Amino acid sequence: MKKIILIFTILLISVASFSQASKESAMHAFVNKLLAKMTLEEKLGQLNLPASSDFVTGAVSSSDIAQKVKDGKVGGVFNIRSVTKIKELQEYAVKNTRLHIPLLFGMDVIHGYRTIFPIPLGMSSTWDMPLIERTARIAANEASADGIMWTFSPMVDLTRDPRWGRTSEGNGEDAFLSSAIAKAMVHGYQGDDLSKNNTIMSCVKHYALYGAAEGGRDYNTTDMSRIRMYNEYFPPYKAAVDAGVGSVMVSFNEIDGVPASGNKWLVDDVLRKQWKFNGFVVSDYTGIPEMVNHGIGDFKTVNEKALQAGVDMDMVGEGFLNSIGISLKEGKVTQVQIDKATERVLIAKYQLGLFDDPYKYCDEKRSAAEVFNETNRAEARTIAAQSFVLLKNNNVLPIAANKKIALVGPLANAKENMTGTWSVGADNTQSITLLKGLTAAVGTAGKVLYAKGSNLEDDWELEKRQTMFGKDIPRDGRTPEQLLQEAIAVSAEADVIVAALGEGAESTGESASRTSLDLPASQQKLLKALLATGKPVVLVLFNGRPLTLTWEDANVPAILDVWFAGSEAGYAIADALLGNVNPSGKLSMSFPQNVGQIPLYYNHKNTGRPLGKWFSKFQSNYIDVSNEPLYPFGYGLSYTKFDYSDFAVSATQLNGNQKLMATVTVKNTGAVTGKEVVQLYIRDLVGSVTRPVQELKGFQKIELAPGASKKISFEITPALLAFYNGDLKLDWESGDFQIMVGPNSRDVQMLKVNWTK
Ligand code: BGC
Repeated sequence: MKKIILIFTILLISVASFSQASKESAMHAFVNKLLAKMTLEEKLGQLNLPASSDFVTGAVSSSDIAQKVKDGKVGGVFNIRSVTKIKELQEYAVKNTRLHIPLLFGMDVIHGYRTIFPIPLGMSSTWDMPLIERTARIAANEASADGIMWTFSPMVDLTRDPRWGRTSEGNGEDAFLSSAIAKAMVHGYQGDDLSKNNTIMSCVKHYALYGAAEGGRDYNTTDMSRIRMYNEYFPPYKAAVDAGVGSVMVSFNEIDGVPASGNKWLVDDVLRKQWKFNGFVVSDYTGIPEMVNHGIGDFKTVNEKALQAGVDMDMVGEGFLNSIGISLKEGKVTQVQIDKATERVLIAKYQLGLFDDPYKYCDEKRSAAEVFNETNRAEARTIAAQSFVLLKNNNVLPIAANKKIALVGPLANAKENMTGTWSVGADNTQSITLLKGLTAAVGTAGKVLYAKGSNLEDDWELEKRQTMFGKDIPRDGRTPEQLLQEAIAVSAEADVIVAALGEGAESTGESASRTSLDLPASQQKLLKALLATGKPVVLVLFNGRPLTLTWEDANVPAILDVWFAGSEAGYAIADALLGNVNPSGKLSMSFPQNVGQIPLYYNHKNTGRPLGKWFSKFQSNYIDVSNEPLYPFGYGLSYTKFDYSDFAVSATQLNGNQKLMATVTVKNTGAVTGKEVVQLYIRDLVGSVTRPVQELKGFQKIELAPGASKKISFEITPALLAFYNGDLKLDWESGDFQIMVGPNSRDVQMLKVNWTK
């Protein structure tokens, strides 16, 4: 019987791979035939990606798109927010161009299309891969109904510098967690079949190292060793490639002195040859002409470098369109390079099914029924509440629904700010504020009293920089003192104060770096005044990055980090504040005590003079502050308590390809049901190159009823111990390993094993 099953399985696999191979050869035959008919101009047109004038992020905006489309000078357009407009433009392209090639329509669908989920940093705090995949699935479903078939997501730039505004768009400081997220997102967008009308092509970005910009200043130089790139910064991009991502966006920054947009080693050697990526590569917004400013050549030269490096599509720069033809005549680039890039773009269009039906993604009926509908909004509410991280709770939370709540702060009634940065498709008139959510949640049982308390910043010029792109927080013209007095008066009537403070949506995201990570002074003053009333205060923190909360942690009884939670933010936050949902998020990034500690990350190296007890002279520490973060990676509290016991390993001496099981029992010892992320860390004690003091190597999210317990098992194989050595070869080495489990990276239990090859 077993034999028959085996033969049958082999037969099935052979049929499947045969039909896959014949599909691929049909695709190549189609594309090659088309390519053979194309003029040089038409080929260069396919490599040109202008932005819709609907939305512009850089210095150059593309105009007269329609004329260019007609002339065959456009391969795709991005950030058009209307199914009708997209359909019209697609029709225009298909009908008016000589070869009737459909356009690609892309968009920054970053954390939802119209139904917006928490910002990526918030989503990463769920540590829940099916949930993360679900958000990408819903986003793909909505976007594809509205004409979009390509998204510039996921962003997987590892970052250890919260000054960088784009920290909000990524998954934090850890490669293992971010790799898992990359895979989940790509699968969520693309599904198993890219040609379906409800899946879209994903574009992993920004390849590579963009999150390591010096000083946390956006677009700045990066410089790091290759061994660090391979072990720490590359894995999430590679995970997206392994998951079958259709496209890759190169980053603005330089690597080894060569900007990514023209870096042959990065694109051709690593991405294409080593990782076997066979999709297409797009530049970032004017990334190619910006290489002139980097100082590696004039306009024509930098475009040649980009094409030679293996970049296929030029976002907004228009240099491929306007200068590569001249470079070809001069022999600076080859016809083969142009053909290869064109072929890759055409293959993407073929895989999406655009040659069969260019209008398959433009479905007004689907759009009306499936975009931002009640079901998606309900899911956004449940999902958002999973991203909240309870940073502190001295028995203030949850709040009983029959209490009188004073809701105070500039973020309490800031509709446009709920969806956070990069919510291009959002309709913020529909977003739910905390004032609305909390008022609905307490109903007639309790009461919510509201006062703004302060503006985001006292300095309006500073505030304006953080409320652009329609992310307004209407400015209150009263003096800071008047606002404060109103807040104090309102608080005097309440049982408990909820302070909705933090950053504006555009305090984070692109070109939103900060040198101070404190709450703005206006809000600190408000918080102090609220605490001085003697009433219990809950700080509900809106933020797109770790902030420095040392004072707040010491003085405020409860802190709930809600990031920017999306369209249904207000309902979701109210669910958590009232205990209808028990917070279970865990930080994907360490919160420093102060900015001077940055970069601060849990998986650092040990140094020759490791930290003893702070302060120790001639050890690697600071005089004024310990090396500890305020809140460590993996940290987050719950309304219940979890107890970890019976930590054990299946063996302490292992050989070759054996498997090790690490087990631990987790018990809910509190009074309410809760979710816990059980984390596995490993330390390789001795290596041919130095190894981090701790590395996340596994995690499981479980839910336990009060009194319930569960035995959690992690399977550890040598593959999990592998790292890139001095020759950049991925392998593991014999030796001693510490195996650690715990509720976060700090509070771990530890056992030691020896593993020999
Ligand atoms: C950003 C990208 C984005 C692109 C298109 C650029 O400024 O760096 O992340 O996908 O614009 O909007």
